Amino acid sequence: MDIKIFIINGPNLNLLGRRENNIYGDKTLGDIEKLCEEKIQNFAGASISFFQSNSESQLIGWIHQALDEAYAIVINPAGYTHTSVAILDALRIFNGPVVEVHLSDITQREHFRKFSYVSERADKVIKGKGPEGYIEALDFLASKFFKS
Ligand code: DQA
Repeated sequence: MDIKIFIINGPNLNLLGRRENNIYGDKTLGDIEKLCEEKIQNFAGASISFFQSNSESQLIGWIHQALDEAYAIVINPAGYTHTSVAILDALRIFNGPVVEVHLSDITQREHFRKFSYVSERADKVIKGKGPEGYIEALDFLASKFFKS
């Protein structure tokens, strides 16, 4: 059985590696995708699809696609974390596990980053661990929801 995990990344994450490196580090989104691809090899029968868009509409489209195609969603909604009721609503339609990931610790930054709409639906929130947060998300899904 194929256990498909959608890893969905929001706006400006395509510029990781040249974006506020003091906050987000030196790794590119491609590096993070590679780490996730390596990690998923440990989990027999599981695979990832890795997405990024700067458009809220496209992110919602992938969440809709996940309804039929994915077992779980890992999402870093980036700036939309703090603004998007529409992304929260889309995630509420999805029945599987949802993990929210942030590279930085959004609770330790500007006031406007402290609130996350998505956290209301997330089964787990991982923040402040850099790219390792994505790996932790896959480990969480494996330990909690399927056997490796
Ligand atoms: C982020 C945190 C958000 O506040 C910010 O808008 C981002 C990235 C993170 O991964 O730390 O774009 O989601």
